[in-house]
Amino acid sequence: MNPLTYASPFPSTFVFGAAAAAAQIEGAAFKDGKGPSIWDTFARTPGKVAGGDTLDVACDHYHRFDEDFALMASLGIRHYRLSIAWPRIFPDGDGAVNQAGLDFYRRVFASMARHGITPWVTLFHWDLPQALEDRGGWTARATVESFARYADTVVKAFAGDVRHWITLNEIRCFTWLAYGIGNKAPGRRESDAIVNQTIHHALLAHGHAVRAVREFGGPQARVGLTDNCDVSVPVTETAADIAAAEAWFEDKNAHILGAIHGGGYSKAYLERVGDAAPKVQAGDFDLISLPTDFLGLNVYTATYVRAGRDGARYEALALPANYPRADSPWLNLVPQAMYWAPRMCHALYGHRSIYITENGCGYNHEPVQGGEVIDLHRRDYLRGHLREMHRAIADGVPVDGYFLWSFIDNFEWEDGYERRFGIVHCDFETQVRTPKLSARYYADVIRTRCIV
Ligand code: BGC
Repeated sequence: MNPLTYASPFPSTFVFGAAAAAAQIEGAAFKDGKGPSIWDTFARTPGKVAGGDTLDVACDHYHRFDEDFALMASLGIRHYRLSIAWPRIFPDGDGAVNQAGLDFYRRVFASMARHGITPWVTLFHWDLPQALEDRGGWTARATVESFARYADTVVKAFAGDVRHWITLNEIRCFTWLAYGIGNKAPGRRESDAIVNQTIHHALLAHGHAVRAVREFGGPQARVGLTDNCDVSVPVTETAADIAAAEAWFEDKNAHILGAIHGGGYSKAYLERVGDAAPKVQAGDFDLISLPTDFLGLNVYTATYVRAGRDGARYEALALPANYPRADSPWLNLVPQAMYWAPRMCHALYGHRSIYITENGCGYNHEPVQGGEVIDLHRRDYLRGHLREMHRAIADGVPVDGYFLWSFIDNFEWEDGYERRFGIVHCDFETQVRTPKLSARYYADVIRTRCIV
């Protein structure tokens, strides 16, 4: 046995990458014709973002992408999931195209090609043009039409550079959290009926993006959604707890993955939401349920579920106060999420190609000392999660790739710059980048294709 490796290597076709999103790293928030996004507005609203941090400079990736890709390549990262900023392409949401925005991404793709890095492009990662929010944002069906035009424009422009397209990032976050709970931009607190309508509009936007890739992406193009499904982990891996965890998973994901794959909202979901059901027009699900090539899953945490008592189908367990978690209060450490999320999606929706499009952990205070950041906590998170993903593959679950969140510390939405998710440390004063111990660890995993 090779004493340095765990189990067998990952399949030779398995993709190892890293991920980030435009609004979180680019900066240049108002440069070269970019219009304001809802996050630019939200960050300027007192009390919404920790420390009053804005996206104005972020990691200054707008000016430093070439050195960032050189660093990425030096770590052996050959796949990068990035997003396009809608308000760079359409500053007013749906008016005139901003050529300077398209030119920027052309330079980005050229630089990636020079460094041997393959792009995986997300069309929408939360930065809705403010001009569209002023007209109702995701509550308005007209936003779907604006998105369709944006998707057509971007796919046509970059069909020669991009083969892997992701339609939307995490529908829950830019609908429910943004229009219902209000902790994400635009920070509204609307009724359940309105929130369910924003989700329906997001599903339609997903469908349009699939259509755009099929129409304009070229024969090699592949497309899928990135979803942060609610993940259940059976308390014991026995038939009864597994069945309970599956039933919980199905219920919790009925409004997004269930609807897309079921060709409509299920009876159980419609009964549950009652009067707050979304308004659906004829033909909506022809678009929403267009076949995709893969499913992207962002996996961070999970809920423990066991068989229900007294006839209940399941019981979801509240976590004890001292359960281990990262510094993000929602990020409870449940590595088995990486096994069960893809396994359930494969079993319930029949997905034959699944990518983990995000997985990582956020911590505060990660000081650079002697040119290093000793983030053993992140190395441990990574290793534990990779092992569970490896186990899923060994059990025949079709997981084809993994994108670590995130390449570099960045603007962590309402938590500002305080919460660091990167494997590369960013000094936001000087813009100096320092690979952390976890970056070296991940580089070794990629090089050996084993969990070292
Ligand atoms: C998002 C990222 C975010 C990360 C950590 C995901 O929900 O897609 O943009 O930074 O989680 O919170």
